[in-house]
Amino acid sequence: MARVFISRDLPFPALDRLKEQHEVDVWEERTPPPADAFLARAQEADALLLTVTEKVDGDFLDQAPSVRAIANCAVGTDNIDLEAAAQRDIPVGNTPGVLTDATADIAFALLLAIARRLPEGEAEVREGRWAPWHPGHMLGGDLADTTLGIIGWGRIGQAMARRGEGFGMKIVHSSRSSGIPLDELLETSDHVSLHTPLTPETKHLMGAPQFARMKKTAYFVNTSRGGTVDQAALKDALKNGEIAGAGLDVTDPEPLPADDPLLTAPNLLVVPHVGSATVRTRSRMADLAVDNLLAALAGDEMPNRVA
Ligand code: DGY
Repeated sequence: MARVFISRDLPFPALDRLKEQHEVDVWEERTPPPADAFLARAQEADALLLTVTEKVDGDFLDQAPSVRAIANCAVGTDNIDLEAAAQRDIPVGNTPGVLTDATADIAFALLLAIARRLPEGEAEVREGRWAPWHPGHMLGGDLADTTLGIIGWGRIGQAMARRGEGFGMKIVHSSRSSGIPLDELLETSDHVSLHTPLTPETKHLMGAPQFARMKKTAYFVNTSRGGTVDQAALKDALKNGEIAGAGLDVTDPEPLPADDPLLTAPNLLVVPHVGSATVRTRSRMADLAVDNLLAALAGDEMPNRVA
């Protein structure tokens, strides 16, 4: 029987499967363990089941030498230094596939919401500012017969493309291995949605020069990681009218403080990293994370191993 540290309570059946075979130490608080508590608990564990908020690097692994497997309850693994884990022969697993639709749904919901100005409309109603119908009231952008540019062509980017096609949009994409050059995508797309993992190469992939290339009428959506966007540049692009609006599920940092300068920008909708937040999706993510750990602790290959 191994000891597994779980960095957040996972209210799903998967946890019971883990408990049947192993001793489980759960961080019960809603907020992530502070760094020192995380390390102390990891030092007593054989394996870790983590979420996107826990950072693991080589130093951390050296100080917690008992850890021999890590399952991230997420598809993104930028919180873990995969190279450091590989150098120490510690397998790392993620949860691909099961959150594709939920995340693409949020991306498309953000696009619709900002293009059709739903947050503004709702605020008018609730604040008693709903004036009689007027032909020029709250005009937004169209989606049908426009071009949706998708940056990153993995599962979620392709699921976003299917949603766009369903709404009558033409799809173009740009990725490391296929599609059109990024600059061409930015210049020709009516709307742009970002779906790349965060890596050293994609950090601030969208900065001032990229926003400047976009159409002034274009909406921008990010459901990948906050670090892929230079937020100061995004704020300026919104303030200067270089793009029409933006919808974000991810920011840097997270949580984004309520007084962050980004939130002074107009035509911006931010939701708190809820791309995968459906009951079924989160339960399936927990299942895959537990499958990864059970396999590794039994001496088998993780079904979804990334390092
Ligand atoms: C992921 O899986 O990477 C999401 O950001 C969290 O669900």
